[in-house]
Amino acid sequence: MANTLPPTFDRTGRHALTPAVDHDELARFNFLTNLNVHLGQQVSPGNRSAYEKRVKPAFKKAAGRDPETRQDLRKAMRNDPYYQFWAALRRNTMEQRQQSGRHVVLRQLDDLIGKAKSFNDGKDTLKIDGQMKVPRYLARVDNHCMPGSYYTEVVADDILAGANYETGLFVTTAGSMSSKGDGGGRAIVNFVKKSFADFKPKRILDLGAGIGVNTLPLADAFPEAEVFAVDAGAPMVRWGHARAQAMGYDNVKFIHADGDNLDFEHGSFDWIQTTMFWHETSTTAIQSMMKKMFDLLAPGGLFLNVEQPNFKPDTPLYDQFTRDWDAWYNNEPFWSKLHVMDVFELVKNAGFDPRKLFDGGTEADIEQGQFQPWSSTLSRHKHELKDSGDVKHNQYKGERWYLYGGWK
Ligand SMILES: C[S@@+](CC[C@H](N)C(=O)[O-])C[C@H]1O[C@@H](n2cnc3c(N)ncnc32)[C@H](O)[C@@H]1O
Repeated sequence: MANTLPPTFDRTGRHALTPAVDHDELARFNFLTNLNVHLGQQVSPGNRSAYEKRVKPAFKKAAGRDPETRQDLRKAMRNDPYYQFWAALRRNTMEQRQQSGRHVVLRQLDDLIGKAKSFNDGKDTLKIDGQMKVPRYLARVDNHCMPGSYYTEVVADDILAGANYETGLFVTTAGSMSSKGDGGGRAIVNFVKKSFADFKPKRILDLGAGIGVNTLPLADAFPEAEVFAVDAGAPMVRWGHARAQAMGYDNVKFIHADGDNLDFEHGSFDWIQTTMFWHETSTTAIQSMMKKMFDLLAPGGLFLNVEQPNFKPDTPLYDQFTRDWDAWYNNEPFWSKLHVMDVFELVKNAGFDPRKLFDGGTEADIEQGQFQPWSSTLSRHKHELKDSGDVKHNQYKGERWYLYGGWK
């Protein structure tokens, strides 16, 4: 497994809006993707050696005890030159990925806006709220080093954040999300079909859907359903809608709105999905929005969340420290807090019956035949995924994604 390489950028799925990339841009994306994988597979193990051989003994000598918390570990490790070298490079791959994606989009912005408008204008499947107030926690930070985050608009009909998100997803995930970036959505569908074979949702809400990469597999799996992709970033929603239309989806509505302030009737949905969403909210927002989602679910409806698994009492201190990295160096301020929150308490407090809660893991799903079969195992967050269920992996079978939820 140590020698597996990621797929190449030219193998990513294309549609009518896909931004053009020239030779140098393509080479840059491939370089950054490979650097991500190299840092994860070859360089990162050296952090553990640095910890065991240098940092821990030095800590013990100075403090007269072993490190007891992940904060102890972080304070000690952040001064270690090997860790600094790895962390700086990892941060740099993200910054470069953001700048490279923006560069690709910005140099053809007018053309892309024009194309997006040709799919968006006059469609009742797209709603943009010009008055929407960006939630305070979202407006405070450029999430994962994305300049302007998800919501910033600098020109009319702006799509930059959405187009950049799609273009660079391949680099960020090292190709582990399949050729259309929809590995998460595909994994969710596999889980739902396998675990709840009789479930036939008619109205599905994907909260914090971004550009809808992981929403579209839900629409594929339930073509009779009306699917709503809601997001607080207008450029994400515009791009997501145009992309979905370009790919031939007409059963997905894209709504620009704050999930804490949605304009749907009580009991409107029989499935509410979130995918990699809660770690980018706040302690207050998560509690408030979960209650609202409970209200929006119809009796018998499914609430399903794919997220970072929480730390368990037996999660080793070193793993806790490693998994918190994004909170400190990747502009993910809520990431660390989410690791120690009790998500079941949250769901119960939102109104769900404790007897109807569940959690589990599902294999990341790449589109067979598009990328090498081991692609799904190259994720930057491999160390997190390994915690999400104790199923033994076959070689190349992929990593497990953690999910939890409940029935109303
Ligand atoms: C990490 S992205 C995940 C996107 C998508 N679920 C996916 O799997 O690609 C989180 C998204 O949540 C959105 N978001 C954050 N707070 C929100 C809120 N209160 N209401 C709606 N969307 C929100 C952000 O704009 C962003 O697009």
